[in-house]
Amino acid sequence: MREQILLNQGWEFAPLWRDEFIQPGVGAEGFVRVNLPHMNKEIPYNYFDERDYQFVSCYRRSFTYKASWAGKRVLADFDGVMAYAEVYLNGKLVGSHKGGYTPFEVDLTAGLAPGENTLVVKVDSTERPDIPPFGYVIDYLCYGGMYRDTYLRIVDPVYIENVFAKPKAVLGEKKALETTVFLTNTTSEEQSLTVGVKLLHEGKLIAEGSHIAVAEPGKSTVDIVLSELAGIKLWDIDDPNLYDVEVSIADTQGVKDSCFTRIGFREAVVKPDGFYLNGRKVMLRGLNRHQAFPYVGYAMPPRVQRKDADILKYELSLNAVRTSHYPQSPHFLDRCDEIGLLVFEEIPGWQHIGDKDWQAVACENVREMIKRDWNHPSIFLWGVRINESQDCHEFYKETNRIARELDPTRQTAGVRYIEGSDFLEDVYTMNDFIHSGGELVLRDPKQVTKTAGYVPYMVTEFNGHMFPTKRFDQEERVVEHALRHLRVHNQAGLDPHIAGAFGWCAFDYNTHYDFGSGDRICYHGVMDMFRIPKYAAHFYGSQVDPHVRPVLEPATRWSRGDRSIGGVLPLVIFTNCDKVRIKLQGRDVGEFYPAKARYPGVPYPPVVIDQMEIGEWGLEWFDGEFIGIVDGEEVISKKYAAAPVATKLVTIPDDLELKADGMDATRVVFMVVDQAGNPLPYLTDAIEFELEGPGAIIGPRQTALIGGAIATWVRAAEEEGVITLRGRTPRFESETVEIKVRK
Ligand code: GAL
Repeated sequence: MREQILLNQGWEFAPLWRDEFIQPGVGAEGFVRVNLPHMNKEIPYNYFDERDYQFVSCYRRSFTYKASWAGKRVLADFDGVMAYAEVYLNGKLVGSHKGGYTPFEVDLTAGLAPGENTLVVKVDSTERPDIPPFGYVIDYLCYGGMYRDTYLRIVDPVYIENVFAKPKAVLGEKKALETTVFLTNTTSEEQSLTVGVKLLHEGKLIAEGSHIAVAEPGKSTVDIVLSELAGIKLWDIDDPNLYDVEVSIADTQGVKDSCFTRIGFREAVVKPDGFYLNGRKVMLRGLNRHQAFPYVGYAMPPRVQRKDADILKYELSLNAVRTSHYPQSPHFLDRCDEIGLLVFEEIPGWQHIGDKDWQAVACENVREMIKRDWNHPSIFLWGVRINESQDCHEFYKETNRIARELDPTRQTAGVRYIEGSDFLEDVYTMNDFIHSGGELVLRDPKQVTKTAGYVPYMVTEFNGHMFPTKRFDQEERVVEHALRHLRVHNQAGLDPHIAGAFGWCAFDYNTHYDFGSGDRICYHGVMDMFRIPKYAAHFYGSQVDPHVRPVLEPATRWSRGDRSIGGVLPLVIFTNCDKVRIKLQGRDVGEFYPAKARYPGVPYPPVVIDQMEIGEWGLEWFDGEFIGIVDGEEVISKKYAAAPVATKLVTIPDDLELKADGMDATRVVFMVVDQAGNPLPYLTDAIEFELEGPGAIIGPRQTALIGGAIATWVRAAEEEGVITLRGRTPRFESETVEIKVRK
């Protein structure tokens, strides 16, 4: 049976490379102990030099050969190393890989020695022009290091290399599962095997089947179909039922290898008249996500990756996400499966297409992405073009061919910003940035595609650089930012030929000097880099059934003089309530209804108040109260102080328990609020984090509140205990957050 050993702990790291490091034990000085995921150099929040992490570094780790490995294959799996890796075992090169977003394996077997073995990884994190997305400019950063998980996998000489489990006849009474088992036989003789497949639901056996097969030396595949499957529950966005598939191979002596993969039964297809999930039309409402975090870039552990999916689903009420512009963390995708968040995943790239060798790496990226992720029910579409590149017929014919051959169950797409582009994919996906505040909101799909009739069509980006917005910008701007997102989704919702729209983007992100605001940040998110919401986040958040989660978010600082000319009108209230009652200084001033006539294309239009006797420059200014009413009941309310005073430093931790593995981490938001509990977007006080116990702050201990709030991530140490964390500003000390750290 296989053994899998997580190899994240206990690496030695040097932020430089010398060829002599290949030899075990050379250059003890200069190495520090690190755990994975790891960024090769922590960076400040902004105004850093992005060349600071673009260097060649060395990661090395020893492990002890075990007697039980005799006669087995020992493989090392690397989930993500930016951007080029060379792997040495005991002084000899055993493998290399180009590309920072896809996994690779290295067979260590031949070079293993009894006792101690040393794995050295030379990690080139420079922007090498031979590797996508590099070669020209890019609007994001590709942070360096070994930033995902690494494993040792010990398998029999004949082993299961991969499994592709394809649900079939999904909408029929009786469903089927066609499983392709990929076998590797490293011996020189053919092996007679029984290949078995079990379908399980929450540990319970649903169906099983097996097949006697002969595995030739090298690679071979075996298909096993389980049919007549009754009582299977579909995977859907509101009810994401998951099943496990266990695959095993056995010979006369017993089981040689087995593995699990997780699947869901669903049918997802984009048609010329929209997106259909399990035969039901669903309007895709999504955002683009970069997998980047402050200070450590991509190097965040499973919990933090998973939390992003939760934020997208439960705070932003999305039903879809695009993994712009590369395959993202497997942990993020696992969570998308679990919570019912649809994913459009794409290969690495940004506008630039390199030479033939570069294109070959991109084709390999297509293969690696699909083979890694083809069992995720959440993924409904493969992006097989370099984001926003020009047409390149032969190249894209090939990427489409590869995708269709590997995975005939999913459609292909390729994101462009050009009209009438060579339509080689199944879905025409367009970044439509036409809306700049005026009448024009989205283009007609046929104008874009220049096809005779309508084709499957989706808007994959809008807004972004058209209207960068900081969380602490003036009220008019943050409101307009939110309205632009609303208008585009409204228009998409009204156009029967648009399957959905993905806004640019979920979170602010670090970028190169030639993009963004010059401080190495693109302020394009509906949340900031700490995942703290701007008003646009509240538009998204409000698009959920109020019985699931009532939302009431007036998009206002509730001050009389922040806007030009003063006042708070037009007052936009993002809500899913039937109506909103407003009180001023405790006095009822009326009930207000969602602007359904103005925004008929979204499920829950906001309340928009254009006129009201309130807050004009020179008039009296009052405390305000907003009450959301659903089915005649008051379900949610929000108060505003006429004269806000910084009152309290509050903490909002995502988790109160971490694993004592030296990698696990969680976010704690610190926010100064006024007497009504509202954030103070123009507060800039300094803040210091005080941490005791088995953990550490990621990033600086001393910083400043950004727009009245900031977050820090806390990383667990390898010992058990309790972390206590407090924030201190010149005016306040927060309550103490206690985070248990457990084995
Ligand atoms: C698009 C691009 C994105 C981002 C965005 C900003 O052109 O695909 O990566 O740069 O613009 O609005």
